[in-house]
Amino acid sequence: MNVVVFGGTGNIGGRVAERLRAAGHSVTAVSRETGVDLTTGAGLADLLAGVDVVVDTLNAMAFDTESAVAFFGGTSETILRAEEEARVKHHIALSIVGADRLDASGYLAGKVAQEQAIRESGVPSTIVRATQFFDFLPLIAQMSTSDGVVTVGDHDLQPMAPEEVARVLADVAVGAPLGVVETAGPERASLASFVERLAQHDGSSLPLRVDASVGYFGVPTTGDAIVPVGDARISDVTLEQWWHAHADD
Ligand SMILES: NC(=O)c1ccc[n+]([C@@H]2O[C@H](COP(=O)([O-])OP(=O)(O)OC[C@H]3O[C@@H](n4cnc5c(N)ncnc54)[C@H](OP(=O)(O)O)[C@@H]3O)[C@@H](O)[C@H]2O)c1
Repeated sequence: MNVVVFGGTGNIGGRVAERLRAAGHSVTAVSRETGVDLTTGAGLADLLAGVDVVVDTLNAMAFDTESAVAFFGGTSETILRAEEEARVKHHIALSIVGADRLDASGYLAGKVAQEQAIRESGVPSTIVRATQFFDFLPLIAQMSTSDGVVTVGDHDLQPMAPEEVARVLADVAVGAPLGVVETAGPERASLASFVERLAQHDGSSLPLRVDASVGYFGVPTTGDAIVPVGDARISDVTLEQWWHAHADD
């Protein structure tokens, strides 16, 4: 199969490209590093000629609603238009569990716009909604820290290993379009408890406060807002196993 992975040099896209290549597929990894800026779409038509499957793992540090919607909504519309012309058979995009349920603003509003662009396009698709990656936990803690205090919302998390996210995407890429697939890690617990485990692991001793009003990156959340509430592919790799496997990194 001919596959293009947008964001194929990134954390998840790189792993997806590697897995699909190892399975014998012809994979083109695309990013600005390889000379293609998806915010302009230049060169896309040539790139997608003869391509069967597209996997979109693009990401941007776009934390306000306007830039997040412009990036995720805009790049998705551009890619999907080119896919329709090239008759790509399956578009797969990586989204976030809860993106369909949150009254989203900021970054998450971008993911909602991305999902909407996919639903509105004529390209057969699978939206893979994953929970937070294990390697994203430090950034959550860092972004929740102010004046030496970590303040997190009162909701659950069910994070997963990035390798497992890539495994699900690569599996989906070689199958028929499924609409929506959700995936998560094996343990569901409060965000505060994961931040505590991370602090213990890293030897950090910053005080931790739970304040329901902070939500998740400013988005109001209830307990199960960003964990799967229906069917989901559950990985069996725990946070401790993943830390152990990456101890020498
Ligand atoms: N972090 C989490 O816990 C989490 C959970 C669920 C879902 N997700 C989703 O997972 C996806 C992938 O995340 P990640 O951590 O793998 O991201 P990442 O490591 O930051 O990779 C992003 C990729 O996008 C490329 N890119 C960015 N801007 C581009 C542009 N204008 N044109 C072309 N390529 C561009 C980057 O390469 P260049 O910089 O070279 O262009 C890179 O290859 C995101 O959509 C995110 O919403 C994240």
